[in-house]
Amino acid sequence: MNIWIIKNASLKIEKIDKLVERLSKVAISKGHEVECFNNDEILPFYSAKSSPAFVMKRRVPSPDAVIFWDKDVLLARHFESRGERVFNSSKAIELCDNKAHMMNFLANSDIRVPRTIVAPKIFEGGSLAEEWARVVIGILGEEVVLKEAYGSFGMQVYRVRGAEDLYKKISILGMRPSIVQEYIASSRGRDIRVNIVGDEVVGAVLRENDSDFRANISLGGRAKPIELSDKQRDLALRAHRLLGLDFSGVDLLFGENDEPILCEVNSNVNFLSFEQASGIDFAGRIIDHISDC
Ligand SMILES: Nc1ncnc2c1ncn2[C@@H]1O[C@H](COP(=O)(O)OP(=O)(O)O)[C@@H](O)[C@H]1O
Ligand SMILES: [Mg+2]
Repeated sequence: MNIWIIKNASLKIEKIDKLVERLSKVAISKGHEVECFNNDEILPFYSAKSSPAFVMKRRVPSPDAVIFWDKDVLLARHFESRGERVFNSSKAIELCDNKAHMMNFLANSDIRVPRTIVAPKIFEGGSLAEEWARVVIGILGEEVVLKEAYGSFGMQVYRVRGAEDLYKKISILGMRPSIVQEYIASSRGRDIRVNIVGDEVVGAVLRENDSDFRANISLGGRAKPIELSDKQRDLALRAHRLLGLDFSGVDLLFGENDEPILCEVNSNVNFLSFEQASGIDFAGRIIDHISDC
């Protein structure tokens, strides 16, 4: 197969370069041809005279499959409108990229999530009423987690105490969309990352962080492989399937009595730390899945 791998030009994160390099090497070792592109190298072109086209410097044959390691949903959709197969799909990436959309999409699924309130849309120069923060704290409790709808590596996730603090922090976000969740105290500094390809759980790690309520590896969390309970496996798989993902990393929180609660689902999952902790060839599983589709 001729596989293209797309990443974002503006995101200068070494981990993502390494991850794309690894995917590329694994695909080549399995006999595929691979081309890697930054999203700004491919110009989606529309005109009345032709079907959706690409304008690009390099002349290469069209892909049989596109591994989309970016969140440039419009570019992913452009591939799809040309009939090309994109992994993950633009729809799945779009839903996972925005934590508010994800909550809304899973709303009728009986998947347990932290009690969540989506913040209202704010226009430029506008602001929220202080009363809003008081109502939210009244519903969710004194301690809450404020999350920007778009965020990764735990960087846009904030722990907040009380209405005044919530109002201050959310005002700083300005027009950026966000959600507020109850703080799941039983999960402080720990969560589970479940790694899934196709319809199968490939493996899971427990992430623990002694110095922060967020368990993300980038913030100092340590990962060690764990066996999932049936409930944890079932919840992660259900969320993965509902969101229409080909591969994903599902974050689960620990509720009371270790009851699993869905934290979020990642479409562009950073699997390098999982591979390191588990010795499992996640990249190989992705390439095999794409070959089988
Ligand atoms: N409602 C919550 N209660 C307690 N801890 C949480 C909650 N939501 C997230 N966390 C912690 O914060 C981390 C980052 O949150 P997450 O929603 O996964 O954002 P990101 O996309 O940045 O990883 C989680 O891995 C978890 O450890
Ligand atoms: Mg996360």
